[in-house]
Amino acid sequence: MFDKLFTPLNIGNVVIPNRLVVTAMVSNFCTADGMATERFLAYHEEKAKGGWGLIITEDYAVNKHAMGYQYIGGMWKDEHIESHRALTERVHKYDSKIFCQIYHAGRQSHSGVNGGVQPVAVSPIACPWTREMPRELTVEEIKEIVKDFGSAARRVKEAGFDGVEIHAGNGYLISGFMSFYENKRTDEYGGCFMNRMRLLKEVYEEVRANVGTDYPIMVRFSADEHVVGGRDLSESRMIVKLMEEWGIDAINCSNGVYGTYNPGQVAPMYMPHAWTIHNAAEVKKLVNIPVIGVNRITDPLMADNLLSIGMCDFVGMSRASLADPALPNKAKAGDWEGIRTCIGCLQGCVGALYFGDPFRCLVNPEMGNEYKYTYEALPEKKQVMVIGGGVAGMEAAIAAARRGHTVSLYEKSDRLGGQFLPAAYPPGKGEFTTFISWLKNEMLRLGVTVFLNTEATAALVKSKNPDKVILASGGVPLKPPIPGIDRKNVVTAERVLLGKDIVEGRIVIAGGGAVGLETAIHLAYSERGAITVVEMLDEIDKTGDGVIKVHLMKLAAERGIQFRTSTKVIEVCENGVVLEQSGHPELFYCDFVVLAVGYRANDSLRSELSFLGDKLAVVGDAEACANALTASHSGFAAGYYA
Ligand SMILES: Cc1cc2nc3c(=O)[nH]c(=O)nc-3n(C[C@H](O)[C@H](O)[C@H](O)COP(=O)(O)O)c2cc1C
Ligand code: SF4
Repeated sequence: MFDKLFTPLNIGNVVIPNRLVVTAMVSNFCTADGMATERFLAYHEEKAKGGWGLIITEDYAVNKHAMGYQYIGGMWKDEHIESHRALTERVHKYDSKIFCQIYHAGRQSHSGVNGGVQPVAVSPIACPWTREMPRELTVEEIKEIVKDFGSAARRVKEAGFDGVEIHAGNGYLISGFMSFYENKRTDEYGGCFMNRMRLLKEVYEEVRANVGTDYPIMVRFSADEHVVGGRDLSESRMIVKLMEEWGIDAINCSNGVYGTYNPGQVAPMYMPHAWTIHNAAEVKKLVNIPVIGVNRITDPLMADNLLSIGMCDFVGMSRASLADPALPNKAKAGDWEGIRTCIGCLQGCVGALYFGDPFRCLVNPEMGNEYKYTYEALPEKKQVMVIGGGVAGMEAAIAAARRGHTVSLYEKSDRLGGQFLPAAYPPGKGEFTTFISWLKNEMLRLGVTVFLNTEATAALVKSKNPDKVILASGGVPLKPPIPGIDRKNVVTAERVLLGKDIVEGRIVIAGGGAVGLETAIHLAYSERGAITVVEMLDEIDKTGDGVIKVHLMKLAAERGIQFRTSTKVIEVCENGVVLEQSGHPELFYCDFVVLAVGYRANDSLRSELSFLGDKLAVVGDAEACANALTASHSGFAAGYYA
């Protein structure tokens, strides 16, 4: 099936066994002092075991104030060498190679994460995300930072990494010097192209002086910054020619900076696959050193195609490696159904980092928990009964079955998937189906017995007498207690998305959270009529992820969806709704009202099963309505600890 994916290629003098690369990702798994933890080691080891050709670590700070996140790796003192040697040793038990990315976060740092100092940058312009005004670096300070890069690279080599990647992209310090977007200097580091390249050149030379001529040095940069006044391909072409001339061994093409409003440097499900690969292809036309292309490449066959048509020499598949660290081995074995696909939701990975938390993955609750989910043989095998076939229930069943328990799952409807099924219907979210089919397939592979169309009752539980019951009965759509709510013209978003209720004409969506907004877009894209979303808060999708929301609002605007914020639906009539804003009622004509006002726990069985005591676990929305990330993680944990 594969022409190139599993062929080796050198970076400098290091042979990378295949073309699949995990590009850098902040995990927030290290200590605040930049030391590796067992969690960090086990997470990387899992990828090496899974067959990735090259793993590039997260961005390690070159000095203790260079950090953009609080719990990233550090290379600013010799104590880091021993700590991170443990990482290279764990990875080198397998065929994978590992490079260490080193960086200074520049203005994209914050005093809250960098040891309490004001961030420093090329020029005093605040990053629109981190928002703290940075201090302009003096020339003397720049020279110090150059030295920091050099000594960090020396430690990287001493720790046993196979190469080093200088991070000169995504708006961090070096990147800021390279682009007019941030660089407003008029000294030898500003103005003309060569002056703006000076810091990268000095860093490269210092790194080379520290690691020697035979050690691979790769540079990551943003080939297109996607911001007004930022760099695009025209100057990037000039940069890559320089890099090759200087002696850099490979180029890793990223895109964007923190100020890139949309689509962002980590593309969500609304962006096409491989959407920045043309940048890598342009770079490849100009240089003879290997080029890495990246961004929303999720399928190994897609990766092989990109290599075959010469778009790049290596394919970065970062989030794909979070979703399934064993993707390379599964691809090689032709185990297509076994591959768990990254669905581009951003919920667990980037989403967690916004809050400074360790990152997670919606579709892979084991990611980051490899150190504790060890699958050691259990003294006692149990009969485990799972009630509910949504994400939480299926994850629970899988985890329990992996531990060797005998598992049966009861789902009252005729399908598995729960609320994740309608979630796949709005435009851009079709890939959500891959997760449901993966869960189903995994249960089948593990021998879980599934009963569809079977409502679990207390009597059934008593008759089966299981050792453990996991209640994952999900949530049910909320119905606000307002006059007219039971009229025929009122339907739920869930049934509309699933095509079970048909609405057309003038449609009011009651509730402007993510579900309401997505349902509105779904209807607008199906040309169902004129749509108005009514939201009682002062903002649509107020708690939604920023990047996702930008996309949703764009789609909504394209289709002329109307919004009414700070407005409540207080009554449903035969041919409309009564809206209330600032205490003023208003009759609003419409043909249908679609309810998207949230969910409540479907936990009626909980009290009936109280006789089970600690043999009962309640997970996912049945415990408390939250998002799919919480459902998958709580379900898996309950199954694992059954
Ligand atoms: C959680 C997360 C953290 C990231 N951290 C870094 C980083 O430390 N350094 C870096 O160069 N890129 C970072 N990236 C960008 C990735 O390397 C990659 O370019 C991006 O995710 C797009 O590739 P993908 O679609 O295969 O995930 C990060 C991405 C994610 C999802
Ligand atoms: S959380 Fe979502 S976007 Fe992030 S790696 Fe997992 S599936 Fe992909």
